[in-house]
Amino acid sequence: MEKQQVGVIGLAVMGKNLALNIAEHGFAVSVYNRSPEKTDELLKESEFEHLIGTFNIQEFVDSLEMPRKIIMMVKAGNPVDDTIQQLLPFLSEGDIVMDGGNSFFKDTIRRNIELKQKKIHFMGIGISGGEEGARNGPAIMPGGDFETYKLIEPILNSISAKVDDEPCCTYIGDNGAGHFVKMVHNGIEYADMQLICESYFILKNMLHLTPPQLHKIFAEWNEGELNSYLIEITSDIFAKKDDKADGYLVDKILDVAGQKGTGKWTSQVSLDMGIAIPTITEAVFERCLSAVKGERVLANHAIAIEIPDIHIENEAEFIESIRRALYASKICAYAQGFSLMREASKEYDWALQLGEISKIFRGGCIIRAQFLNKIKDAYQKDSNLTNLILDDYFKEILGKYQKDWRKVVSIAIEAGIAIPGFSSAISYFDGYRTLELPMNLLQAQRDYFGAHTYQRTDMEGTFHTNW
Ligand code: 6PG
Repeated sequence: MEKQQVGVIGLAVMGKNLALNIAEHGFAVSVYNRSPEKTDELLKESEFEHLIGTFNIQEFVDSLEMPRKIIMMVKAGNPVDDTIQQLLPFLSEGDIVMDGGNSFFKDTIRRNIELKQKKIHFMGIGISGGEEGARNGPAIMPGGDFETYKLIEPILNSISAKVDDEPCCTYIGDNGAGHFVKMVHNGIEYADMQLICESYFILKNMLHLTPPQLHKIFAEWNEGELNSYLIEITSDIFAKKDDKADGYLVDKILDVAGQKGTGKWTSQVSLDMGIAIPTITEAVFERCLSAVKGERVLANHAIAIEIPDIHIENEAEFIESIRRALYASKICAYAQGFSLMREASKEYDWALQLGEISKIFRGGCIIRAQFLNKIKDAYQKDSNLTNLILDDYFKEILGKYQKDWRKVVSIAIEAGIAIPGFSSAISYFDGYRTLELPMNLLQAQRDYFGAHTYQRTDMEGTFHTNW
């Protein structure tokens, strides 16, 4: 029997759709899933003769041509290690095992080393785009040996999303680089979603807008600078009627956010590296805060404070100010994510091409957006750009929008509306551009209680004072 070109192991939503996508692009695929029902289901759904099901690991591995190319689409964590252990007895030197899940990049670095000792090539491949992306073209972030990447590049390029005919897939860097970049993508995704939610929160609570009105506003915003997948789906969400009761579905959904950990990892890593990504981290914290609904209900009853009822004179103007505040905050969130990648690139010696990364984010992935073209342009102009907000385009926009941004943040705070994303973004902007922060005092405090020493502005050296 002729051998198959690619194997996909793990047929949950992402794995199943990726297998169909690979088959659709003409590659002969073998699939395997621990429980055979999923395999049967997929075979029933598939119209491709060259997508075949296998029912044990050995049959799966044996069905593949050498060097074997196996994409694991299993849950991050132990299931990845377990699957590797199951595969190992049947693999041969030179085979390629790819992890297409949201694995933590340090696990990917470890697996890369472990499998190298067994002469198996391991690639950590970030894949973004959810179910729809997996089926019709995701953004793909492969990390591992460049020579191994070259062997799988044709498959990855052909199944990826395309922007202007260019694949949304590029070699990211050695070992864990692909999963690192996917992790930061998700951190940015958290911030982006949080900022959109805050805009909604202000519009809903201060202007008392209804879902159909919100649908219209977001649809309009999607025509301009904010054009993006997340704004588009937000507009769609507001149009969705409840099919179980009267009204709109968004109004019936419990305000408790879930999370699977990639945003948290981004924040943890940023703390380890000493890179400020406050807007991303606030987005994680806000999900945590939302999750203690019981406590929040108690607090709501316990804390009775007077909040001024603020009347907005010119609604259209205020809506435009919110749009500007959202765009400016979004720029800061992306600047934070890209700063983290810049630092990681140095620390792990990955030589990340931030311009190429912003290019592949333009299609397929959850944060795909028109404005990624601006980020791409910024890095094309200066591949060593220290921070995105120093680029001419972003500098100009932030300068132009800052008044509205400040107005929105202060009015929302006055009205008692929690806006951790917006306010952290503007504080990041202000903190970053401020010549003298109050850390002179902080250094004095540290020296006062702990003799931690300080430096002076007017002379060289390290000083300690007996306060
Ligand atoms: C993507 C998404 C994907 C997943 C998130 C959801 O790029 O396709 O980011 O990876 O939907 O991990 O994450 P939370 O459950 O943590 O929101």
